[in-house]
Amino acid sequence: MVQGQDLSRVKIRLSKPYFGDKQNLMTMIKDILERGFLVQGNYVAQFEKRVAEYLGVKQAVAVSSGTAALHIALVALGIEPGDEVIVPAYTFPATANVVELVGGEPVFVDIDLNTYDIQADHITKVISPRTKAIIPVHLFGNPSDMDPIMEVARACGLAVVEDAAGALGSEYKREKCGTIGTLGCFSFHPRKIITTGEGGMVITKDDLLVESLRRLRNHGMKAAGPVLDLVTPGFNYRLSETGAALGMSQVNDLQDRIRGRQKLAGYYKNLLEQIPEVSVQRAPADATVAWQAFVVRLRERENGPIIKRLKEKGIETTIGTYALHVLKYYQNKYHFLPSDYPNAAILFTECLALPFYNGMSMEMIDEIVKALKETLDENQTSEGK
Ligand SMILES: Cc1ncc(COP(=O)(O)O)c(C=O)c1O
Repeated sequence: MVQGQDLSRVKIRLSKPYFGDKQNLMTMIKDILERGFLVQGNYVAQFEKRVAEYLGVKQAVAVSSGTAALHIALVALGIEPGDEVIVPAYTFPATANVVELVGGEPVFVDIDLNTYDIQADHITKVISPRTKAIIPVHLFGNPSDMDPIMEVARACGLAVVEDAAGALGSEYKREKCGTIGTLGCFSFHPRKIITTGEGGMVITKDDLLVESLRRLRNHGMKAAGPVLDLVTPGFNYRLSETGAALGMSQVNDLQDRIRGRQKLAGYYKNLLEQIPEVSVQRAPADATVAWQAFVVRLRERENGPIIKRLKEKGIETTIGTYALHVLKYYQNKYHFLPSDYPNAAILFTECLALPFYNGMSMEMIDEIVKALKETLDENQTSEGK
C-alpha cells in the first residue's frame, strides 16, 4: 500500500499492523511524551534487549529501517569500492542498493522457483577474487538453505549478511534466521511481522562489529568520558522512542503472532489446492516459516491484470517483489537482459502477494480465494479471445 493511497474502495487490505490490546502501548507512549525524550533512549534499549533475548544473542542494534540495518552492516564489514557482494536477483531493491551505496558491485544470482531463495551452487559460480560477502535473503520469511551457503562462505573467507528483513522468528534447522551468518538484518516496516513504523535491527555475535554498528548509527560518535567524540563519519540511523514502544508492545506475543500467521498460511494453502495454476512458496527441509507475506505464483499468468481486477473487487494485492536486473538503474548500469536471471524474471511477472496479516479472518481468506479463482477464470477467457 502506497502511503496516502485512497482506501475507500478497498474491502480487504493487503496488510494491516496488528497491535492487539493497546493499553500497555498507550501507557508507554504517554510516558515518552511526558518525559519528552523522543529518540534512542530507554525504550530503544529495552526493545533491543527483548529482540536480542528472543533471538538468543547478547546484543542487538536498533536502527531507523531495514535498509539502514543492511547499510551499516556493509560499512561495518569494511565493504568498499571495487568489492563484490553476492545478492539474489529477486528481492527488494534495498538488498542490492546498499552495496551500490558503499561503492561496491552487487553480483546477482538467480533464485529457486520453488523457495524463491538463492542456493549455494549458484553462488559458487560467481565468486571472484573481489568477492567479499554474500547477502542471502530469507524472502517473505522463508529461510534460505543456510548450511551450504555458510560452507561456501567459510571455504572462501566471505562474510555473510543475512537479509532477514521479513524473517523475524523464522528458523532454519532450529536456528533463528539472522543469527546464522556474520550479521543479521531485520526490518520493522508496517508490512513486517512486528512494526515500529519505520525501523530495523542489526545483530551479530561479534563484539567489535557491535561497537562499530553502534557508532555508525549515531553519526560515528563514541563516548569519550562525559562527552561524545567523533571516531568516523557515520549516519543518523537512530530509532525513535515511540517506534521502540510500538515494537515493545508487539514483541512479547511474537510466538502467538507467528502461530497465527502459520494458521492463516495453512488455511490459504488448503483452499488454493483447488486452483491448479497457483503454486505456493516452498520452505527448505527442517525450516519454520514465520510468513511475513503470503506470495503465490500464478503459473504462466501475468500478475498485473489480476492485481487490477482484484482491486476492482475490493481486494488489495501486489507483486511479490522485484527482479532487480530488469529495473532501470541496474539494467542501464550493467546492461542486463531479462534472460540473464530467468527465474527472477518469471517470479517478478507471475508472483502475487495476497492479503496477509495478524487479525484477518478465515472468512476473508475464503472470499479472497474465491475472487482469485473467478478472476483467473475470467482472465483465461479474455486471453483466449
Ligand atoms: C528483503 C528486504 N530487504 C530489505 C528491506 C528494506 O527494509 P525497510 O523497508 O525497513 O528499509 C525490505 C523491505 O521491505 C525487504 O523486503
